[in-house]
Amino acid sequence: MFRILAGCALMVMAASATAQPIVIAHRGASGERPEHTLASYALAIEQGADFIEPDLVMTKDGVLVARHENEISETTDVSDRREFAARKTTKTIDGKAITGWFTEDFTLAELKTLRARERLPLLRPNNRKFDGQFEIPTFEEVIALAQTEEKRRGRRIGLYPETKHPSYFQSIGLALEAPLIALLDRYGYREAADPVFIQSFEAANLRQLRGMTKLRLIQLMEDSAAYAEMATAKGLQGVAAYADGVGPAKSLIVPVSRIGRRGAPTRFVEDAHAAGLEVHPWTFRAENYFLPADMRKGISPRGAGDLAAEIRLFADLGVDGVFSDNPGVAVAALR
Ligand code: G3P
Ligand code: CA
Repeated sequence: MFRILAGCALMVMAASATAQPIVIAHRGASGERPEHTLASYALAIEQGADFIEPDLVMTKDGVLVARHENEISETTDVSDRREFAARKTTKTIDGKAITGWFTEDFTLAELKTLRARERLPLLRPNNRKFDGQFEIPTFEEVIALAQTEEKRRGRRIGLYPETKHPSYFQSIGLALEAPLIALLDRYGYREAADPVFIQSFEAANLRQLRGMTKLRLIQLMEDSAAYAEMATAKGLQGVAAYADGVGPAKSLIVPVSRIGRRGAPTRFVEDAHAAGLEVHPWTFRAENYFLPADMRKGISPRGAGDLAAEIRLFADLGVDGVFSDNPGVAVAALR
């Protein structure tokens, strides 16, 4: 009898262990290092993240690099570089006019001469000391880092790349998809069981990728009118035809009012699970500025609030993963 009970207990423990949400290091450990740098990803791995998240854009010579957007003046020193002053231009990207410097106008060799800067210097002043230290990494360098650290640490470190502006890059003859799949394949990532999720806000892009790879796909969703239909029970069933999971803005699960008051949780997690989709919300950030009012500590927007409480709330609601700028806090909150 004791053996049967002990066996049941072990099975329950194993089930709980597999149900634990994964921690996705959003742009690396971007709460503590300038985003999308090898230093940011390395710190996230050190802190125990399960996956590291590079957003991907393309260079002029067709190399995938990690940047949140193709306009790079917010996260590099390009605006101070006199040799590139003439590259400043205005383009329409996804229907919006944007002025600055764009990755597709630089070769990889040129981009490598730039140095990363903290995107949010007012909220994250401690990170400014790293300005000027780190290069823009290629996706291949990010993969190499993950695989080197996997061997060194004896644990899997997943990759969670996002295709940024995929329609735009197709329109200028620098499509992201084929080089992305080819590079992943070259490094041994090709099956659904491999530790990779590919994410996009563009459904058409994911449908195209579905025809190219067995790797898991994630449909990203903003909390906006553009995604309102997709976020319904019926819409989520439609997403399940081409994706393995969804990456919703966290307010699609726990609404927060303009003054920071948390509302009652929605049916989103339940509906997504009923459609067979994993749920990986974003973005969990430590600063009070990004937290609901009842999870803030003190009055400074840049002060650290109770991020662990927010993450545990979402874990209790059944999410399967969390994107966090502070993977160390997320790991501690969940384990
Ligand atoms: O990729 C998940 C989340 O990061 C989407 O938002 O804008 O930070 O890439 P963004
Ligand atoms: Ca992203």
